[in-house]
Amino acid sequence: KGKLLPVQVNLTTCLPTFGRPGKPVYCCPPRNMLDDPIVDFEFPDPTQTPIRVRRFAHRLDEESIAKYEKAVSIMRSLPYSDPRSFTRQANLHCQYCTGSFLQQHSNLPVRVHKTWIFFPWHRMYLYFHEKILGNLIGDENFAIPFWPWDLPEGMTLPAFYLNGSFINKQRDPTHFPPAVADLDFQLAAGGSTPEEQTDLNLALMYNQMVSGAKTAELFMGCAYKTGEGGDCFGPGTMERAPHNTIHKWVGSEFHTGREDMGVFYSAARDPSFYAHHSNIDRLWEVWRSTHPEMNDPEFLDSYMYFHDENSRLVRIRFRDVMDIDRLRYRYEDVENTWLAARP
Ligand code: C2O
Repeated sequence: KGKLLPVQVNLTTCLPTFGRPGKPVYCCPPRNMLDDPIVDFEFPDPTQTPIRVRRFAHRLDEESIAKYEKAVSIMRSLPYSDPRSFTRQANLHCQYCTGSFLQQHSNLPVRVHKTWIFFPWHRMYLYFHEKILGNLIGDENFAIPFWPWDLPEGMTLPAFYLNGSFINKQRDPTHFPPAVADLDFQLAAGGSTPEEQTDLNLALMYNQMVSGAKTAELFMGCAYKTGEGGDCFGPGTMERAPHNTIHKWVGSEFHTGREDMGVFYSAARDPSFYAHHSNIDRLWEVWRSTHPEMNDPEFLDSYMYFHDENSRLVRIRFRDVMDIDRLRYRYEDVENTWLAARP
């Protein structure tokens, strides 16, 4: 068995893929990515860049909701040729999640789920998405809110997602507010009262964040590298639930995969995707605050590509996203009540 290397994306060819078995999808960019110059990621200048504060979605004031809505509506109005457009942004998720690109030094597709790159890849994705939204409305302080489905006050779909450019028709209306999310949703109604569901959710969170997540491999997923034997397939606790379960819970009961949110190829077409992942990213920070750092060089040196707010194609390593202070954002403080929900 040869040496295992960091995962790198081969941008030469973007392939048609399957959104789910029997469902071909083509989510590639309209022109070859290598036609654009590639720049290496640079940290924002701390003396010039304010810290963006990601806030509790259900507590956002009207003005912040209106700004966010405006940014999304401008993003939706951009043409597909523009990498900042809403559909291109959504298709990024499709590309990296259904295997449109192959790895360098391997014939295997790049996939960003069910492995340890789940957290850092989605962090990068949100970072650029947030910067683009802020840039479209000329607001350097703009931050994507987080949907804290893990906290009693946040267990409903944030109500503003039912209005304006946040609307997505492919959602299950029986799960609109005030329905309490089932963090362990298994496609059938659980039959619990809202109070019982809240308690079940807190207990699940304790398991996924604390008792069941004592090691990096358990929490983050298996070690994904490139080279013979480097492939792996095993999600961490949080990815399995509530991450996957909230996706299914939001999506429409009329589609086999509960599209849009329920399947990788279509999930990011729903604007609520981004607040869902903002919360996943917040919980990664919570977990990291009490666990040893992941210092594996193949992990840290893996790299991906994203277009930034100036439509430049940026090459960025996982190493670059390990310190959110340097990325100039943070999360509003909340009390993680599930920490006391030890069964
Ligand atoms: Cu890339 Cu929530 O999935």
